[in-house]
Amino acid sequence: MTWDLWRWVRDPIGLLRERAATAPVFGLTLWRRAVVGYRPEWNRAILGDTATFRAAGSLSGLTPYLAGGVVHSDPPEHDARRRELNPHFHNRGIATLVKRLDEVAADHAPQGPFEALEWAGTVVRRMLNAAFFQGQVSDDLLRRYFEPLHRPLPQPLLPRPVLFGRMENAIAAVLQDPPADTLAWSLAPVSGAVEEIRVALAAGYDTTAHTLAWAAWHLAAAPAWRREEGLPAVIDETLRLYPAGWIGSRVCARDVVVAGTPVRAGSLVLYSPFLTHHDPDLWPDADVFRPDRFAEGRPAWGFLPFSAGRRTCLGAHLARAMLRAALMSCVEGALERRGGDPTPRASLTLRPAGPLLLTRTAR
Ligand code: HEM
Repeated sequence: MTWDLWRWVRDPIGLLRERAATAPVFGLTLWRRAVVGYRPEWNRAILGDTATFRAAGSLSGLTPYLAGGVVHSDPPEHDARRRELNPHFHNRGIATLVKRLDEVAADHAPQGPFEALEWAGTVVRRMLNAAFFQGQVSDDLLRRYFEPLHRPLPQPLLPRPVLFGRMENAIAAVLQDPPADTLAWSLAPVSGAVEEIRVALAAGYDTTAHTLAWAAWHLAAAPAWRREEGLPAVIDETLRLYPAGWIGSRVCARDVVVAGTPVRAGSLVLYSPFLTHHDPDLWPDADVFRPDRFAEGRPAWGFLPFSAGRRTCLGAHLARAMLRAALMSCVEGALERRGGDPTPRASLTLRPAGPLLLTRTAR
């Protein structure tokens, strides 16, 4: 095992931060050569050219949770799939779901002492079930499907054909007669709908749940931000500090020069929202939680919690709607920290080391 790979397995964030301090673009010797950049010009070059920087062979292919559907397609198929899927996930597409999300969130408003990761996992699972299926898929099946995503590597990477088969059968059963005004209903005519929905659920679950847990943790220490109008900035600042998609990867299809660095065909090319969001040249006091910074705008290609370009997160609007709905309970009640460990730990997605112990008292 190379030194870089050893560090990558144990502490990838520490490794990335160390190397980023030495150069804006740097190489890593992992199981294969990789080249990493984090400045806006790098992000724009990589994310703005989906024909050269391709998904096939990238890190998402390592986990069966993401190795399928739109996540794993490339142009020209990728563009066609996005054209089909995008309208259902735009703000207009999800407008009818918002009331349902609010109801689920209100039903799961924490009372008294609670652990934020556990609460967030439950409320996001229930909201996804409501948004996609009006709650018609067994909560226990969804819980089992999502559970490996909470475990450390290599658990999320292992094949689980029986579990995935059950999940796909359950999705297919709802698609036979989908409840009106659900995502299953609008996605039913889309090609490969069963797989697209299964992959979207996986892509949307722990990403949203971990963001929610961190946001609640910070809100507990920032009473001035516990108001509904402040939530968009609180959500942005949480996504900046802790981008669940902390690393993104592509495979380079031809020899190119990116931001002055030659990149050979076949190289694994990485961009890192985590590094970009902690770059002191872009974000003063980068490690400090300060939602008011968003009043000054955001640097182009310097804020990428949902990536950017044609592969930008399909579920970004839905994620924001779920986060807002669930955080309303934190705004409406008194919220206090009791202790815990919010240090980011990188697995498939970024998560707090935890636990995050809070107490909420309804007003
Ligand atoms: C806070 C929550 C979320 C975060 C931080 C997040 C982040 C991301 C990021 C960074 C990417 C791009 C990955 C790449 O480099 O290729 C992505 C893609 C994607 N996300 Fe999300 N996501 C979130 C929630 C969701 C939700 C709720 C859904 C759906 C229900 C979803 C579905 C997808 C899909 C399908 C893609 C692949 C898009 C494509 O390749 O064209 N995500 N997400």
